[in-house]
Amino acid sequence: MATSSLPLLSLFLFFTLLHTTSCTTSTGSGGCATSPDTGSTLSIIHAFGPCSPLRLAVPFPSWADFLTDQTERDTTRLLFLNSLASTGTGKSFVPVASGKQLLQIPNYIVRGRLGTPAQNLLLAFDTSNDAAWIPCNGCTGCPGGSPWFNPATSTSYHPVPCGSYQCNQVPNPTCYPRAKSCSFNFSYTASSFEAGLGQDSLSLASDTVSSYTFGCLQKVAGNSIPPQGLLGLGRGPLSFLTQTKAIYGSTFSYCLPSFKSLNFSGTLRLGTSGQPKRIKTTPLLMNPHRSSLYYVNMTGIKVGRRTVAIPPSSLAFDPATGAGTVIDSGTMFTQLVRPAYEAMRDEFRRQVKAPVTSLGGFDTCYNGPVTIPAITLLFDGMQVTLPEDNVIIHSTYGTLSCLAMAAAPEGMNAVLNVIANMQQQNHRILFDVPNSRVGFARELCT
Ligand SMILES: *[C@@H]1O[C@H](CO)[C@@H](O)[C@H](O)[C@H]1NC(C)=O
Ligand SMILES: *[C@@H]1O[C@H](CO)[C@@H](O)[C@H](O)[C@H]1NC(C)=O
Ligand SMILES: *[C@@H]1O[C@H](CO)[C@@H](O)[C@H](O)[C@H]1NC(C)=O
Repeated sequence: MATSSLPLLSLFLFFTLLHTTSCTTSTGSGGCATSPDTGSTLSIIHAFGPCSPLRLAVPFPSWADFLTDQTERDTTRLLFLNSLASTGTGKSFVPVASGKQLLQIPNYIVRGRLGTPAQNLLLAFDTSNDAAWIPCNGCTGCPGGSPWFNPATSTSYHPVPCGSYQCNQVPNPTCYPRAKSCSFNFSYTASSFEAGLGQDSLSLASDTVSSYTFGCLQKVAGNSIPPQGLLGLGRGPLSFLTQTKAIYGSTFSYCLPSFKSLNFSGTLRLGTSGQPKRIKTTPLLMNPHRSSLYYVNMTGIKVGRRTVAIPPSSLAFDPATGAGTVIDSGTMFTQLVRPAYEAMRDEFRRQVKAPVTSLGGFDTCYNGPVTIPAITLLFDGMQVTLPEDNVIIHSTYGTLSCLAMAAAPEGMNAVLNVIANMQQQNHRILFDVPNSRVGFARELCT
């Protein structure tokens, strides 16, 4: 398995991000320049970036270790996404967490306020998930590092009753005889979670979502829970998008800043207003077995001017098997099914014409300067040519450059191609559910 040599990464890939910054607080001093939340636009904070509010609260890995772990995490996530894609259980709450605690933090977080008076929260957002959970006061086993929500001090908090529509959407609902309120358990790999289903008023930037339904975490067993709330941006029945349909019309976009960026100006923009007018789009495909995944129709890949010969079956959308391509905000490096990756990689190597070395999960690395051919992802009705920063990851010393994509690990039986963060960065990605389309536009959010 490719992950066995990953520790090697830490010897080489010393990026500047975590080493050259001196953020001393989470509040914006020390050179951190996160823009304020305004209107329906939320500033995106990188969970591991210099301005992360989690920075002081949890032990942070070095950037090199982060990268190593991130690659391992991608494997776990790929397994998770593939399992979602192929099973048809249709339950809306599916925990994303697995494996090591810290590493399960989705990369991107936004700030929110819940309850009356408002309590500050951090929410990780995840496009391939419908779940909405928040660590609540008194939770046993919830990690620290992020403020917990205290329902007892909110005058607008209501537990969701048993037998309600919402209660029927959650996995394993249980109703305590005295409480009459809906609780539920869910589990994923080594962890299990217990939560009460609650409603309160959620504020994001200048907007307020009254009666927002979420899982108030009571108990966590295992070590795989992120230390903040989760804002699932999937399309399922209890998802944030469905709950806020009247306000946001099931439309949002984000611009993910570069991993190397110190001054983040990435944003999550909710709703139809302020979205780019001129944007290339491709149809959004719906897999009825897995409504929360954002499937698109990737039809090919170009390296330089050449369209790579990829077996059509490696790209074809098939709701029965879950095969196809998804846009995901929770995977760091694009993962393709093996025949697709290998075809692209072989053409890439052919055009670079330099001796290839490998590094951890990356099998196409070069020592010294090389000329990198452009990679263009071809979608039905849209082409996206990736800027070099989205294709190649460099070591700080500039000596090693690796093609920052991978094949799904051998033996996983992966059917999904996952277009990940690194390849999306510095683009505004529009999810326009009512018009069934996903758009890409270049935007420097650095
Ligand atoms: C949920 O958790 C409670 C408390 O730990 C336990 O009693 C109950 O059996 C669990 N239910 C399911 C369906 O796992
Ligand atoms: C980040 O922002 C600060 C303050 O606006 C500025 O002085 C600094 O040059 C910026 N750094 C980068 C790398 O853009
Ligand atoms: C994907 O796009 C190709 C080319 O436009 C088209 O032939 C095919 O039917 C599309 N597949 C789906 C599932 O829409």
